[in-house]
Amino acid sequence: MLIDTYGRVATDLRVSLTDRCNLRCTYCMPEEGLQWLAKPELLTDDEVVRLVRIAVTDLGVTDVRFTGGEPLLRPGLVGIVERCAALTPRPKMSLTTNGIGLRRTAAALREAGLDRVNVSLDTLRPDVFQRLTRRKRHQDVLDGLQAAREAGLAPVKVNTVLMRGINDDEAPDLLAWALEHDYELRFIEQMPLDAQHGWQREDMVTAEEILTALHTRFTLEPEGGSARGHAPAERWIVDGGPAVVGVIASVTRPFCRACDRTRLTADGQVRNCLFAREESDLRAALRSGAPDAEVAELWRAAMWGKKAGSGLDDPSFLQPERPMSAIGG
Ligand code: GTP
Ligand code: 5AD
Ligand code: SF4
Repeated sequence: MLIDTYGRVATDLRVSLTDRCNLRCTYCMPEEGLQWLAKPELLTDDEVVRLVRIAVTDLGVTDVRFTGGEPLLRPGLVGIVERCAALTPRPKMSLTTNGIGLRRTAAALREAGLDRVNVSLDTLRPDVFQRLTRRKRHQDVLDGLQAAREAGLAPVKVNTVLMRGINDDEAPDLLAWALEHDYELRFIEQMPLDAQHGWQREDMVTAEEILTALHTRFTLEPEGGSARGHAPAERWIVDGGPAVVGVIASVTRPFCRACDRTRLTADGQVRNCLFAREESDLRAALRSGAPDAEVAELWRAAMWGKKAGSGLDDPSFLQPERPMSAIGG
């Protein structure tokens, strides 16, 4: 079991498969990209599968999410999913992607055993998409979303970050579109995890602002009860249901107390939090010939040290050195 000193148990593993991306979202990375990890630094497919196996069989992990950077850029992705689906117990598996390339791969991923996908899409307007991501790929994302639904990767969730003065007027339109296409939309508050360290709290579009905007066109009732569980998204029932909309308010309403996550970076470091300042080097252990039990023990120790929260509200808050694209979203 991966337990920490606050009694939280991590059962949800997020594995970053690459730090590279084919978009350049302004809230994430600069136009020129970043200094990417070199191939030998990345975990191999075998190493990824071995660590997922240890997590699932020895450490109580039940859910595995593959992220990046952009995980569809990882050549071995389908094979990794297939091998993880063969583990006992079989983990639930999902993917967080920008959707580019999903049109080609959705069916193969489903076939390999992937359960569902979350796709990032911040705008319905191609020109705004290009301004936000610095790439002309809007239609590719829409096609990818459709392919995911057709492949049965349900529910298909859509992640949206609103940026002030760019797409912050689109919340109701995005929700109307998501309802029409049967996607579960979630709005995410922008977090200080960009490579440029340009995040300003005043610029962030807050959960409250988003809900106010949605209320102009929809009725929203809190889903309430125990439905949220460990999910970062708070959900509202739209116009009497069954559709829901989520808000991930990591800054103004953090869910740290219920956090059930453990993370593995593409270069094999365990992080116990998105905002952690320390990492534990599982890759070094693997490559020095450590047996499973030793790797599992290092992982347990890494999670034991998890802090109470992100520390975002502390005056001494320091952004983690690695940006979100390198940590895994
Ligand atoms: P499901 O609800 O299970 O579909 O997944 P998810 O929402 O956890 O995953 P996804 O990869 O789609 O992440 C969406 C957003 O949730 C990310 O961009 C983050 O903003 C936020 N998030 C995910 N994990 C964490 C975390 O550990 N801490 C914080 N503060 N936010 C997180
Ligand atoms: N703050 C909030 N969300 C972010 N994402 C990327 N960078 C940030 C940030 N700084 C989003 C992506 C994707 C999800 C995994 O995280 O848009 O949907
Ligand atoms: Fe790529 Fe995701 Fe970063 Fe956009 S937010 S540049 S899609 S890693």
